[in-house]
Amino acid sequence: MTAVLTTDARPVEAGVTVRPVVGGLVAPQGKFPWAVRLSMGCGGTLTEPRVVLTAGHCVDGTGQNDGIEVTAGVSDLRSRSAQTARSERVIRAEGFVDEVHGDDWAVIRLDRPLGLPTLPLAQDPIGVGRYVVMGWGQTREDSVQQEQRLHYATVPTVPDDKCAAAYEKAGVKLVRDEQLCAGSPGVDTCQGDSGGPMIGRGRHGEWVQVGIVSWGLGCARDGYPGVYTQLSTFRPEIKKAIRKLRN
Ligand code: ARG
Repeated sequence: MTAVLTTDARPVEAGVTVRPVVGGLVAPQGKFPWAVRLSMGCGGTLTEPRVVLTAGHCVDGTGQNDGIEVTAGVSDLRSRSAQTARSERVIRAEGFVDEVHGDDWAVIRLDRPLGLPTLPLAQDPIGVGRYVVMGWGQTREDSVQQEQRLHYATVPTVPDDKCAAAYEKAGVKLVRDEQLCAGSPGVDTCQGDSGGPMIGRGRHGEWVQVGIVSWGLGCARDGYPGVYTQLSTFRPEIKKAIRKLRN
């Protein structure tokens, strides 16, 4: 991620206080209506009534149906108002190898459209600031369980240079154009949050998706921020894949 001057996605207002996700809060019902849980243990977003956007490493590959079950419209997965759908078809980023090498996105066509709000993709690279991340994943690195209720947290962006330097020590090379880093000690996404969104505010104050939870060294460790798919880089490709899914 590089700081740029023009962007359609602004950081969230300071003052949205959030502590677990690691270090966040439980999302009340309806707060993030396009957030979905996938049966393989990932998150995702409804980017069209019939299309879910998730991480590439959450699916088996393009053309696969994967037999994914989608739970939507709820913060609490056991809520009776949960809506469910199944995957019909998957398209994964062509260049995907594994999450640390970038291209970590995939789109899933559902067997029916869901009557829920959708989350638009940000067009431009994001600026420095704080963004919201969420998921039903672990609230601690050493936790053995996933959460029943959606958790969210606010995380500050971490400059590419700083993030790349940290991960270089761990033997991983950051793909700067395709990945962005965010997090602070004690606040981060974690295992099971993959595929879920990082969001910011659009021009009119609406939520827009700026990233996809991808990977990190442990969770919420000092000096090792979470790494997210940089959506602005992939927007044209993702839009194209969604068009393909319509046929
Ligand atoms: N790869 C993880 C998953 O499949 C996401 C890990 C995110 N880690 C982090 N420290 N932010 O759920």
